[in-house]
Formats: sequence, C-alpha cells, structure tokens
Amino acid sequence: MAKFATLLLLAAVRLVIALPAYDSLVGLSERDVNDYIARHGVAHIPNPPLPLADGGIKLVNDPAHPFIAAGPNDIRGPCPALNTLASHGYLPRNGVARPDQIVTAVMEGLNLGNDFAKFLVYQAFLMNGNPITNLMSIGMKTPETGPNPPKPAQVGGLSQHGTFEGDTSMTRVDAYFGDQAVFNEDLFQGFIATSAKYGVNGTYDVNAAAELRYQRLQDSIKTNPQLVYTSPRILSAYSEAVFPTIFFVDGRLNNRQLTIDAARHFFDFQMMPADFHRQPAPVNFTMVDPLTKAIFDKHPFTPGVNHGKNNFVLQPKTPALSDFCGIYEDIVLRVIPGQYPRPTGALREAINKNLGFLYTAVKTEHNCAQVFPFGKD
Ligand code: HEM
Repeated sequence: MAKFATLLLLAAVRLVIALPAYDSLVGLSERDVNDYIARHGVAHIPNPPLPLADGGIKLVNDPAHPFIAAGPNDIRGPCPALNTLASHGYLPRNGVARPDQIVTAVMEGLNLGNDFAKFLVYQAFLMNGNPITNLMSIGMKTPETGPNPPKPAQVGGLSQHGTFEGDTSMTRVDAYFGDQAVFNEDLFQGFIATSAKYGVNGTYDVNAAAELRYQRLQDSIKTNPQLVYTSPRILSAYSEAVFPTIFFVDGRLNNRQLTIDAARHFFDFQMMPADFHRQPAPVNFTMVDPLTKAIFDKHPFTPGVNHGKNNFVLQPKTPALSDFCGIYEDIVLRVIPGQYPRPTGALREAINKNLGFLYTAVKTEHNCAQVFPFGKD
C-alpha cells in the first residue's frame, strides 16, 4: 500500500515537471518560427485577384497552354481540375502555387466565378497551405512549400486526408484503403457504368451525379470502418459531384452532359480535350447551389461517421449540407484553429489576412456573418 502511494506521488511529481517542460517545448518551436520570420520575413501576400475583365467563352486548350505530362518532380493530387490546369501551365507545372495564382488559374482556365474560386482556394489554403511562405502543394506534402509553422499545423498539401480531402471520392479510394489522391481505374469504371445507366446518352449528368454520390457513400458505409462524412467534407463531396457536369463540358455546348471521353481526359490524362472552350460566363454559387441541392434531394442523408464497418453513427452537431454559413463557421472556428490553436505575431497576421479573403467569398451570395477565431486585426 505504501509502495502504491509512493508510486502515485512520483507520478504526480512527474506530471508537474512534465507540464512546464511541454509548455516550453511549444514555446521553443514558436520561437524558432518567429526567429525564422524575423530573419526572412513572411512572404508578401498579394490580394485576391479581381473578377476577369473578359469573362466570356474562350479557347483554353490553346497554343500558349500546351499539355505537358507531369514529370517525375511535378506534384499532382486529388483534384482533376487543378491537376489539369498545372499540366497546361495555368498553374506552375511543378504543382506548388500561391493561392492568388490558383484563383487566377481556375478563373482563366475554367471560368469559375471570382467568389466561388476564392471560397475553394482560401479554405484549402488555410487547411493545407503554408501561411509563412504563401505556398501550397496541389498534392502531397513537400519541402518545396518552405519552412513550416509549428505543429499541430500540417501544411500537408491538398492530398492531406481529413482536411479538404476526404472519403467517398468518385475516382479515388478512401484513405483507409490506399492512396487517396491517385486516380483509380476501377472506380472510374463505376463512374462510366453509372453514367451509362442514369445519364442522358451515357453521359455524366446531374442524374448520374446523384446516383454516383449516393453509391459512393453507401459503399464506404459498408466497407470503410473509419469513414468520416461530416462538415466540411460533405460540402466538397457534393460540389465535386456536380463540378464536372459544368466545368468539364465544352462551353460551346454547355448542356451539363459530360461525355466519358472528356471525363477520361480530365480525370485520368489530366488533360483538356482538344479545342476545349471554357464556360461561356463566370460560374458562381448561384449556379452551383441549385445543382448540389438537386442531387441531395434525390438521396438525402444525415452526416455521420462509421464506428466500424456498416455502423454509421449520425453526427447531429455537424452543420447540415444546406447550412452553408454553418459550414463556413465550422471551417473557421473548429478546423483551422485545430491546426493553429494560438498563432502569434506575423503568423497570426498572415492567417487573419487569408481568413479575411475567405470571408469576401461568402459575404455577397451567402450573406454569412464573419467569424474571428484569432481576434479582429
Ligand atoms: C478552385 C480551387 C479548387 C481546389 C482547392 C480544389 C481542391 C480539391 C480537393 C482537395 C479535392 C479532393 C477531395 C476528395 O475527393 O477527397 C478535389 C476533388 C475534386 N475536384 Fe477540385 N478543387 C478546386 C477546383 C475544382 C474545380 C474548378 C473543379 C471543376 C471540375 C474541381 C473538380 C473536382 C472533382 C470532380 C473532384 C473529385 C474527384 C473525385 O471525387 O474523384 N475542383 N478538389
């Protein structure tokens, strides 16, 4: 008994000693980062690009943007659109880019509206990019994005599972089963079969999108014991299901029916079809939201996570897909502080600047109230 009491006492003393040691470790890495910033400064952060001066239809697979397959040192990731834009030189071909470059690339190359582009890019950058160097990888983590802020910041690139990247992708396996960023032919065969069964003339249209989205969720519920299907993943999962029916269809036709040949080009070859023209006008939330709602209405779901295979536990506290501002707040108040619990100095300023850019994207069309995880200045 006396021995046990001594052990307990020892454990308590260790804990008291351990706590300040842990604190000072955290302080040390922050100090390292601050030293780095003091020596090199934080990268200049350009303002987000303005809407295109000429947002009309345009040949985008043009001689100024030739397709060149990614080389061994070029990074590609889970997003067929960004992979393709990098392979055509709308983005740096090595796959490492500043957020403002990505906004410009998706506006120029695919005619995303300015707000819509900023929403996708700045949320991704805050979850996956490096706020010190203002660089993000469109795929795996890489030293090319420079010295990292202190952990728990991940700076994992777009392939980082559990941030923007998540489960039930259409052409990528869930991280539980393997590489979540790489194109998977078996899943693409499912994409083709679903389009053949439900889409007009075998195309991937809104009906095929609704069925494929539903099937991918049902499949992950059955097979992936670690499935996570909550905010913010639910929003990207639904948006990404409709994006190809809009942005991968040639703007001259613009019938929301993606041929399998064009899908093969973007998803697999990371290449625009020959003579490809972008959308005839910038595409904003007003155009995308009704389509995501339409595919949701065909197969409504409640967000949840698997506790083991085929045991989908609903998560009533996560915002629903229809609660756009709730998802914006969840990203800003929960997901980002999860990686940056107490940012200080220049790091905090850089994050706040990017949070401000993100807010400009949700202000007009969705009229969300701004939230401030790290103070207002
Ligand atoms: C503008 C900035 C964009 C960013 C930062 C971005 C990022 C991402 C990320 C991280 C994923 C992986 C999600 C996952 O499946 O786990 C993804 C998937 C995807 N993205 Fe993008 N994306 C952007 C724009 C676009 C655009 C303009 C399109 C137009 C078609 C697009 C189409 C897709 C599709 C279809 C997928 C799903 C792939 C699949 O499920 O197999 N993205 N994107």
